[in-house]
Amino acid sequence: MGKKVYIHTFGCQMNVHDSEKMAGILEEEGFLQTDSIQEADLVIFNTCSIRQKAEQKFYSELGRMKAYKKEKPELKIAVAGCIAQQEGKNIFKRAPHADLVLGPQNLTALRNISKESRERVATGNNPSIATQDLPVKRTEGVSAWVTIMYGCNNFCSYCIVPYTRGRECSRPTENIYREVSELARKGYREITLLGQNVNSYMSDVDFPGLLRRLDRVGGIERVRFVTSHPKDLSPDLIHEMSALPTVCEHIHLPLQSGSSSILKSMNRKYTFETYMKKVSELRKHVPDISMTTDIIAGFPGETEKDHQLTLQAMREIEFDGIFAFKFSPRPGTKAASMEDRLSEEEKSERLYEILELQDEITERKNRSLEGTILEILVEGKSDTNNNLFSGRTRTNKIVTIPAISCGKGAMVKVEIVKARKHSLEGKMLA
Ligand code: SAH
Ligand code: SF4
Ligand code: F3S
Repeated sequence: MGKKVYIHTFGCQMNVHDSEKMAGILEEEGFLQTDSIQEADLVIFNTCSIRQKAEQKFYSELGRMKAYKKEKPELKIAVAGCIAQQEGKNIFKRAPHADLVLGPQNLTALRNISKESRERVATGNNPSIATQDLPVKRTEGVSAWVTIMYGCNNFCSYCIVPYTRGRECSRPTENIYREVSELARKGYREITLLGQNVNSYMSDVDFPGLLRRLDRVGGIERVRFVTSHPKDLSPDLIHEMSALPTVCEHIHLPLQSGSSSILKSMNRKYTFETYMKKVSELRKHVPDISMTTDIIAGFPGETEKDHQLTLQAMREIEFDGIFAFKFSPRPGTKAASMEDRLSEEEKSERLYEILELQDEITERKNRSLEGTILEILVEGKSDTNNNLFSGRTRTNKIVTIPAISCGKGAMVKVEIVKARKHSLEGKMLA
């Protein structure tokens, strides 16, 4: 009987996709994936250190593995992802029951997992990952993630990512084109290009050039990308978002704060005014574009006035959705040593105000879609109700519809009949 691997993924899409790559590598080693930790011969934690909470979640899970390992000493435990990269062999101090620590640039260290001895660390700098084509074990679906670049050069003052993912490194355009063509042959209809800062992609062509290339892959009907950095949102990219039929009308463009002085101390390299100009350009050229963003509440030095500027920015822009978090100091980053006078309660209060305002905006925006006709790509059964199917609009909104005969992978026209807080209910048009 083949060996089984259980992968527990924390963090961003990049990690989710890295888990698909690890599953691909391990499949070549004879491992099948399992959903049951009891059944597993190998457990991998793919970790995230973006905020303290994410770290704590992982450490408590890892702690629980001690008992498992006692019962089943041959069980292997690997720690991957951003905490692994940061902590290296220190992981073994907290968790002597772990066997292997591997960073995001060293996924192939899994290749010898069955043979190697314990306490192995693979966290070396390995920019050649950008030219390696790793096997990927995707969950069967209609939508696939494709990495286009690794790392980040931006060093936003609060952020751990440049320390865990290394410097920016773009994959060759040809390799991406080949992977996307292969996905089209396998029946995928939508791809999401991944990178910390996709619009600074630079290889044989730049990012708009890459979108032009991928637009010509037959069978791929929708192209999405995350994340874009406002500083690199060029007129050429806006033009292609409006001109290329495959590129979806959605952009995730993290604002972080509506105060230019806070943006400066975050080292974001744009002001609120330049961000706003880009938003206007986007809306002028891509009229139905939906916009989502990330916001940090209670950055060091954020005054009540700065916070009000963020709320004001949200009212002005009316994002379709946001991810908002309290500032969490990350060891080794510049912001961690900035004077932080806000109490946790004050940060929580600001976060609450941000989330509450966004709820109002999202609800209003969703309601305005009632009665409109939109096209959705059906992704499968709804997570919450088996009698419903769920799909996404080109603007990345989730729509549920009563079960249909065509099912997963169908591109269908629906009328929006009811707006809910986090999703829309639709009815299929004949
Ligand atoms: N590369 C992307 C986002 C990466 S991290 C970008 O540049 O936008 C995702 C989000 O986590 C960030 O946009 C930010 O809002 C949030 N984040 C990152 N570090 C954080 C910290 N120390 N505390 C709170 N939120 C943080
Ligand atoms: Fe972090 Fe900034 Fe890089 Fe995004 S651009 S990953 S927020 S350093
Ligand atoms: Fe977390 Fe690393 Fe992604 S810190 S958000 S898993 S890049």
